Amino acid sequence: MLDMQSLPVMGKENLKKAIDEAIAVNRRYLPEFTDDFRYSHSEGNFYAQSENVEWTTGFWTGELWLSYELTGDEAFKDAAMRQVMSFDRRIRERIDVEHHDMGFLYSPSCVAAYKLTGDETARNAALLAADNLISRFQEKGQFIQAWGKNGDPAEHRLIIDCLLNLPLLFWATETTGDEKYRKIAEKHFNTAIKYVLRPDSSTYHTYYFDPETGEALRGVTAQGNRNGSAWARGQAWGVYGTALAYRYTKSEKALDVFHRSLSFFLSHLPADVIPYWDFDFDNPSDEPRDSSALAIVICGMLEAADDIAGEEGEKLRDQASRLMLPLYAACAVKDPDTSNGLLLHGTYARKSEWNTCRNRGVDECNLWGDYYYLEALRRLQGKWEPYW
Ligand code: GLY
Repeated sequence: MLDMQSLPVMGKENLKKAIDEAIAVNRRYLPEFTDDFRYSHSEGNFYAQSENVEWTTGFWTGELWLSYELTGDEAFKDAAMRQVMSFDRRIRERIDVEHHDMGFLYSPSCVAAYKLTGDETARNAALLAADNLISRFQEKGQFIQAWGKNGDPAEHRLIIDCLLNLPLLFWATETTGDEKYRKIAEKHFNTAIKYVLRPDSSTYHTYYFDPETGEALRGVTAQGNRNGSAWARGQAWGVYGTALAYRYTKSEKALDVFHRSLSFFLSHLPADVIPYWDFDFDNPSDEPRDSSALAIVICGMLEAADDIAGEEGEKLRDQASRLMLPLYAACAVKDPDTSNGLLLHGTYARKSEWNTCRNRGVDECNLWGDYYYLEALRRLQGKWEPYW
């Protein structure tokens, strides 16, 4: 098992260098990706342009807000605001919003815009996205349906990733005073942690319920190696999702699941720290890594460090900083000639004998890996008001 104390901390100089390098990439490629978005993952470490579709475009807008915060450069802010207008149109015209990923799309784009600029169009768009998200709540089973047509009995399941969509609902209650959003977020959260967390503190990716009775049926993977394995990114969504739920609810249960899922994740990291895409794979393995899972977990640790007082919080911050240096060294793009992304060696989806996905973005940059890497740098730099 990895000895965390043997890893050096990131340190101020490395942090500054990492931030400067990330900003240089985003500044260089900004003109190509202002009116166009980025595709979910790179090919040969370069992203292509994309329409504002899929669950991933908000991460690029979020990177622009982070870049603005890190530099004060209005060019990033102006580009981000143009994209916020696209998100407003997207929810009003219901373009590719028949799914639960409203938080992934609208927290780092429109909630961020509202928090940083007070823009009312951004706030209203994010509230429409929150309304769309709560419309997917299923009474039979008490959860938000992840995928497919709302109410489709064949898609009566939740997925662990949805924990990152819940902050949009907590924020919606804060900004409107309407409790309906928070109530649904809490119901979904309680159902999710009851069923996805396994006794050894690993997690299921998805969990099915009976559409007639709401009875919990079975855990199944879509992107992990097999139903009973721990998909690295799913585990990471569990870590960061429970840290964020703790921030909003101060529930001891959320904190307990945060610690347990984090402990499983850390104890399954290989000696060089960068996780394989599924924890079925031990060190060494020829299987690809998923750097994005580590970036997500570091953000979760830094979020919890802000919410937990005293030594426990300090320890989380210290450990996050020790994980950040190998992530930077092994995966960060140092030269914009080599990639237009920020974090190499991610895996969007890896086909296995047992899962239901196809190979996609294997050993490539992906938008959430880039975003959470930059968020982690911003968090390490000092106090930050989360977009989540
Ligand atoms: N939320 C989808 C994924 O993590 O791939």
